[in-house]
Amino acid sequence: MALSQLTISNRGREVQGSPIRKLAAIAEKRKREGIRVYHLNIGQPDLPSPEVVQQFFKTFSRRTIEYAPSNGLPETISAWRKYFENYDIYFDDEEIIVTTGGSEAIAFAISAICDPGDEVIVFEPFYTNYNGFASLAGVKLVPVELNISNSFSLPPKEVIEKYITIRTKAILFCDPSNPTGRIFTEDEIRNITDIARTYNLFLIADEVYREFAYDRKPISIARIPELSDRVIIVDSCSKRFNMCGARIGALASKNKDIIDAVLKFSMARLSVATIDQLSVIPLLENSALYTQPIVEEFHKRRDIVYEALSTIPEITYYKPEGAFYIIIGLPVKDSEHFAKWLIEEFHENKETVLLAPAQGFYATPGKGINEVRLAFMLNVVDLKRSIELIGRAIQQYKTLFAE
Ligand SMILES: Cc1ncc(COP(=O)(O)O)c(C=O)c1O
Repeated sequence: MALSQLTISNRGREVQGSPIRKLAAIAEKRKREGIRVYHLNIGQPDLPSPEVVQQFFKTFSRRTIEYAPSNGLPETISAWRKYFENYDIYFDDEEIIVTTGGSEAIAFAISAICDPGDEVIVFEPFYTNYNGFASLAGVKLVPVELNISNSFSLPPKEVIEKYITIRTKAILFCDPSNPTGRIFTEDEIRNITDIARTYNLFLIADEVYREFAYDRKPISIARIPELSDRVIIVDSCSKRFNMCGARIGALASKNKDIIDAVLKFSMARLSVATIDQLSVIPLLENSALYTQPIVEEFHKRRDIVYEALSTIPEITYYKPEGAFYIIIGLPVKDSEHFAKWLIEEFHENKETVLLAPAQGFYATPGKGINEVRLAFMLNVVDLKRSIELIGRAIQQYKTLFAE
């Protein structure tokens, strides 16, 4: 006799799916209908993965592909250590754990410091998948609102402090930021770190876009010695080496309790892919050689996008200083409706654009409702054309759906 109905968890029911991928199925259908789709919706670099990696995969041969140690292959851990040293960030090998992308590092960091019901402060708009990881751990994300109208800068310390409760364990932030492209100033970093000290909070710094900095360099909180016990760095090979599919990231902390906990989580999932760990070693050891041309290209794209957007009336945007995203405020009521219409119905000369509605990057209901996030994932010619299409689409949409 069945005791009760088969039901899945509340957590499983309520967890937010990735808003970035929502419209992808419609885009595929549209392509089958002969429409060219410019993909500006997802942060998957379009450039080739480095030649040294291509060669590695071509020549790799081993009798048995074994599990790697749970904390990572010793040579991959050392490669991460050397990589960090190039940025004057100093970790011992024992303070670094290789993870399956930055994603797993975020999940481990949250689970290592929070119990169910605890709270983590984020600055919204924020990387939408933080929702999923918080949800897995039963943790509540508490969003501090930032606004496009003041370039997504942080509010004063007193405002951030209002969001702190007895359950607050950490501040989680991404610098340079996905989705805003903002790089925090020295003052902003000082405010965050002062708050962490005053309220005894951990700081999880997601630095996966470290090199993508066009106007000024981000300040890694790993370089502030007085903070060492409360800092967890999340990092990844995905973006900076065009290696998203290799799934190699890292979690680094000087706090031994955190590393011990994360090591135990790592043991439960046994190991990170051995072959992928081997493939990134030359990249990490000599990172600038590989990141420089990639960052130069994205710098060019940032400038093109920024310039091209100036031709579209009635939109709001902020010049991203880093990463490869821009949030655009549109003269429409509901950007999700606009983005769906754009991919489902609009075309000009059989071409259209796929964008990510920005609402999913906010946790506060109603915020970002007229915004989209654009990722600079195309060459400069295609980027220019995409923005031209967006401009035309806005005009058409406004006549079709005039209020
Ligand atoms: C801010 C941020 N953090 C972490 C990640 C995780 O990426 P990965 O798991 O590929 O390292 C991403 C991916 O888009 C991201 O944008």
